[in-house]
Amino acid sequence: MKLYINENHRQGHIRPEIYGHFSEHLGRCIYEGIFVGEDSEIPNVNGMRRDVVEALREIWIPVLRWPGGCFADEYHWRDGIGPKESRKRMINTHWGGVVEDNSFGTHEFFELCRQLGCKSYVNGNVGSGTVQEMSEWVEYMSFDGVSPMAELRRKNGQDAAWCVDYFGVGNENWGCGGNMTAAQYAQEYRRYQTYVRNYDRNAPIFKICGGANADDYEWTRTVMEECFRSPAPEEAHGYMDGYSVHYYVGVEKGEHKGSATEFDENVWYETMKRAFGMEELISRHGAIMDQYDPERRVGMMVDEWGCWHDVEPGTNPGFLYQQNTMRDAVVAGLTLNIFNRRCDRVRMACIAQAVNVLQSVLLTDGPRMVKTPTWYVFHMYRFHQDADLVYSWLSGAEETGLGENRVPGIVESVSADAQGIITATLSNLSLDRDEELEIVLTEKRPQSVQITRLSGAMNAYNSFEEPEKLKEEEIREYELTERGVRLTIPACSVTTVRIA
Ligand code: AHR
Repeated sequence: MKLYINENHRQGHIRPEIYGHFSEHLGRCIYEGIFVGEDSEIPNVNGMRRDVVEALREIWIPVLRWPGGCFADEYHWRDGIGPKESRKRMINTHWGGVVEDNSFGTHEFFELCRQLGCKSYVNGNVGSGTVQEMSEWVEYMSFDGVSPMAELRRKNGQDAAWCVDYFGVGNENWGCGGNMTAAQYAQEYRRYQTYVRNYDRNAPIFKICGGANADDYEWTRTVMEECFRSPAPEEAHGYMDGYSVHYYVGVEKGEHKGSATEFDENVWYETMKRAFGMEELISRHGAIMDQYDPERRVGMMVDEWGCWHDVEPGTNPGFLYQQNTMRDAVVAGLTLNIFNRRCDRVRMACIAQAVNVLQSVLLTDGPRMVKTPTWYVFHMYRFHQDADLVYSWLSGAEETGLGENRVPGIVESVSADAQGIITATLSNLSLDRDEELEIVLTEKRPQSVQITRLSGAMNAYNSFEEPEKLKEEEIREYELTERGVRLTIPACSVTTVRIA
């Protein structure tokens, strides 16, 4: 098999935000997973776990979404500011019925973003909040002048306004965010977003409209129609900068999604096939968006994606805690390749969720932390961030699969960074076919090559007892050719090839 790369043919820019993450007040994501409080014995800086912050920095986390998810439409931001001892204690009704003590709130979120060195994505409450509440939250966070909310923020210890990079106006408003119809949400969106003011003209807030669940194209059409409808001035481009789409991969059988770790080859290929659904979603939602926004000023934000399996036996069903195997890693690899290849449309993507929830990059158990196979994929793909997508073509590629679940055997994407270094990432979806691959560049004469790989049995995972069962390994078996490199891509693996 050959991978032809035309490094001179740039096809778009891969925004770092495609490698974004999501953190919700759900299970052990925020509490324990990220925030342990200043008095914890777990090493922390201002309450944030040192190990977790460091591991997220290692994968160059570009943006973090918070506080939900479904939690966002139940969250009242005033509960999470001021002295901690007087913050409201309440029940997190949506997720597990546990006590939410609000010790992690707005100030803590921006402190976390500071430590991570990433952009902030705050999700507002449309479902159970008011326009005034949302508008005052934006004022509290981002206004530097004289105003009641800016004064309140200063009273709570934060003098300067923070930078709110992205703001979501509601979440899943077709479901947990208020069970609205598309037309109803669109009206609410138009109204609520009006009061998401840009206090700092030099750093306008990027406004995100709540989008569809998976393949609900009718939602997209109706919301676009309503938001772009007159009297919206042309330059308002539907009153939005971004439009969100959510898609989870699960192999439902009745009420069950299936175990995260115990599955057979059929389920493997079914999962891969479902993961490929992402390509169709981007194309079809994108085609509808194009009708209203042909210049593509509105970005598609896939701000929730990943594998959704059954929870680990014996854990709170409302906590969505699942293990993470090679299957999750290959899904992450192929999905990120899809996002790279569709960087003309996809402007941001946030895997759900950062720690201890769904397809996490990190899992914790008290003071212990493991990097999941998915973490390694993000680490291997980090070089794509802020690089240009370049043309690539696989010749001799074959399908793989079982029964009706046929998928491409290898999925790749290739980029060139500002120094001209080429990064090719390849996922081998086959469970039994190693591929002999020759990479052929158009003009570049390679000086050096670095190859790393993640591979293992389909249901292997990193446990707290064996935290490095799976990890990225440097590969030295390859042959440098005049215009590229020859190497083997083993079955069930993710590979990164860097060519300087
Ligand atoms: O990520 C878990 C949940 O999935 C989110 O809260 C919600 O937006 C989605 O349905």
